[in-house]
Amino acid sequence: MSAAGDVIGALSSARKAIQLYPPTHPAHAEALDALVAAVERATGGVNFVLNLHDGRLYNESVVIPDDVHGARSIAEAFEDRSIESLTFAPSFSRQDASGLTEVLSLRPSPSLDVEAELAARGVTGVTVSFLQDETDPEREERERQRQADRAMYQRLLVVLKRLHDQFASAGTGDMSETVTVVAGVIDRLLADPAAVVGLATIHGKDDRAMFHSLNVMVYALALGQRLGLPEEGLQSLGLSALMHDIGKTAFDSDDPAQAEPMRALHPKVGAEILQRVALEDPGPMLVAYEHHMSVDGGGWPEHEEGYIAHPYSRMVAIANRYENLVAGASDREPLTPDRAVVQVLREAGTVLDPFFARLLANALGVFPVGCLVRLTDHRVGVVARPGDDPIAPVVRIAYDERGIELEDPVEIDLAEGDVRIVEVIEPDALGVDVADKL
Ligand SMILES: [Fe+2]
Ligand SMILES: [Fe+2]
Repeated sequence: MSAAGDVIGALSSARKAIQLYPPTHPAHAEALDALVAAVERATGGVNFVLNLHDGRLYNESVVIPDDVHGARSIAEAFEDRSIESLTFAPSFSRQDASGLTEVLSLRPSPSLDVEAELAARGVTGVTVSFLQDETDPEREERERQRQADRAMYQRLLVVLKRLHDQFASAGTGDMSETVTVVAGVIDRLLADPAAVVGLATIHGKDDRAMFHSLNVMVYALALGQRLGLPEEGLQSLGLSALMHDIGKTAFDSDDPAQAEPMRALHPKVGAEILQRVALEDPGPMLVAYEHHMSVDGGGWPEHEEGYIAHPYSRMVAIANRYENLVAGASDREPLTPDRAVVQVLREAGTVLDPFFARLLANALGVFPVGCLVRLTDHRVGVVARPGDDPIAPVVRIAYDERGIELEDPVEIDLAEGDVRIVEVIEPDALGVDVADKL
């Protein structure tokens, strides 16, 4: 058994012994001596720390297995007294053992002052730190921002739906509100690109067309930001991406007979619709027309040899392809984000623009935001932000090493410490909604 396990076992036995036997009983003394001996082995001349995290005991960052004798009861003793950690000094003495054991046996109550009780018993060889009752302000701010981002995304969804309805019934619509909401997304993109890319993990069961448009916009904007486009450029690119499939509103998507005409004609019809709206910016119209053109001259609508589509059209084509790959289709399973990036790179130079394909790989990284990953310590989480090291992003842990869902997800930066990513998991295989975990 580990030295940490021995300390926990000895501490647990000592608590029992002082409850069961009077101080004069040999079992009482034996239990305290055993605790002193266990701490001595564990410290080995340096401080030794036991800490509580998410209801489990750790020795520094090494989790204490549940089957260690006394682990449960000591974890509870910590929890009930809001103890976050105990640091044992090499000087840990018999008096410390006795005082600590007594204090950990006092009835927990809000008025119990563990520090004062230890001091009153002359304990010097062990120091205690406490769980913070007030929530970490940084974490609180992050959660507030997360809610605000989601609200923004939902609002954009509502605005886009209304616009689609207008186009479907009247062939035209008022885009002023859409322009405003896209500007809001760009503001957030410039402040926190990972948060915006994370929003694209949201997939509704219904309204696939809406989510597709929104998420294509998110990926196109990620490309635009990586390219270093100025804000007006991002605005034009974002709006163009959002509107790229607007031509589909002229068709009945529930009618199988219209599927082929919709596929073939929506670029041209979309360009016509956007021409009627008469935006000052020609971007959306161009992108609607060109987003299915391939760089090798293929695709549709037909175009002359040597025709070069607008850069925004080529960027939206990449974002469109990537979105379709990660979302999956009725006849094709979704790809995990890392594999979808690889597939986009495979299509570079024939269908997709090779420069922008590489830019996507660059913008999203080896493990794009939203990848569900298993770590070397068996925990499972979602990539929340890229790190400086492309294989060591920040991961939001959703499941602990036993597969138990965390109520309060923690973020860990893989750049700090030895934990690494073992594999990317297909969320459906675990029944996980990634957007929910991010
Ligand atoms: Fe399209
Ligand atoms: Fe599309």
